[in-house]
Amino acid sequence: VKAFRADKYGSMDFFGIKETQEPVPKKNEVLVKVHAVAINDWDYGYLQANAKGGLLVRLFNGWSAPKSILGCDVAGTVVSVGSNVRRFKPGDAVFGDLSSYTGGFGGFAEYVSAAENRLIHKPERMSFEQAAAIPQAGVLALQALLAGGPLKAGQNILINGAGGGVGTMGIQLAKLHDVEVTGVDSASKLDMLRSLGFDHVIDYTKEDFTQSGKRYDLIIDAKTTRPASSIARVLNPGGTYATVGGTSHMGRFILFGKLLSLRFKKRMGLIWLKPNFELAYLCDLFEEGKFKPVIDGSYQFTDTDMREALRCYGAAEHKGKLVVTVANS
Ligand SMILES: NC(=O)c1ccc[n+]([C@@H]2O[C@H](COP(=O)([O-])OP(=O)(O)OC[C@H]3O[C@@H](n4cnc5c(N)ncnc54)[C@H](OP(=O)(O)O)[C@@H]3O)[C@@H](O)[C@H]2O)c1
Repeated sequence: VKAFRADKYGSMDFFGIKETQEPVPKKNEVLVKVHAVAINDWDYGYLQANAKGGLLVRLFNGWSAPKSILGCDVAGTVVSVGSNVRRFKPGDAVFGDLSSYTGGFGGFAEYVSAAENRLIHKPERMSFEQAAAIPQAGVLALQALLAGGPLKAGQNILINGAGGGVGTMGIQLAKLHDVEVTGVDSASKLDMLRSLGFDHVIDYTKEDFTQSGKRYDLIIDAKTTRPASSIARVLNPGGTYATVGGTSHMGRFILFGKLLSLRFKKRMGLIWLKPNFELAYLCDLFEEGKFKPVIDGSYQFTDTDMREALRCYGAAEHKGKLVVTVANS
């Protein structure tokens, strides 16, 4: 069985496709033949281990090299099932987010063993690539949109870092309601954002959204580039700030989210991913033609394409999601 692994953290030169043992499903697991796998920040971060969380990554996932196979968002076909599995049978097309805070996701491989409760049936009309693109970013987008309670008509929403997975899925979910949405990203992504339905776009290299004077009821942040005081200034009374990730200011929202909320009298904090939360709802929206992931490029499960997809993710050149086809269906 082929799997994409790393001999060391850091440079792409250390990563490659190698032979490894086929996983054996436990009683509650299913063995999945992987057709497509998405690239996520978690995969990239675990392979680099050089960001602020590098020490934690090494503690959990191997000191000198990632000990496990990465790849969280997978879509594929069930090959065999453990003795306690009830919901799936061989031949079922499935998908889901296999992530955990301690690594060991396993999707960058031809086969992965996954707990039954991490998977759902893939709608027939959804391609494996579309299915792999959805779970983590789609769920984070949905969780963040609900962070201040159900959306209400007339609300003003801003998504910072809107050109990636969370933003491109978040806009589609937001626009199911009568709300106004602003997207912030770099110039090369703004046309795509407009085409997805953003009412306003801001190029963060030219304009700081916290200085514009415009106020929002909900700010969703995939990059967390501004301090709490600046964010609070552009939130309406009773507004919500939901960060899903990023680096520079995120630690403060994780540690002091509750205190910041009290200080600024606005709800502020990190959204902790609930893997596969309401994934069936996202499938329903897909079937109704109201929700479709944006997928950038086409990558195959080769050394060259895997490295290029990861490089592209690290450089944030992608629009929407990067997905690798592992086995053509
Ligand atoms: N909370 C949790 O439990 C949890 C779990 C999993 C993942 N996550 C996090 O969720 C996030 C996933 O978001 P995603 O998939 O949408 O990320 P993404 O695909 O990397 O997109 C982020 C976008 O932000 C843009 N950007 C970069 N610098 C920016 C800046 N200064 N201001 C505004 N935009 C900027 C990037 O493009 P340009 O560089 O071209 O501008 C890119 O289009 C990640 O941060 C990840 O760590 C959180």
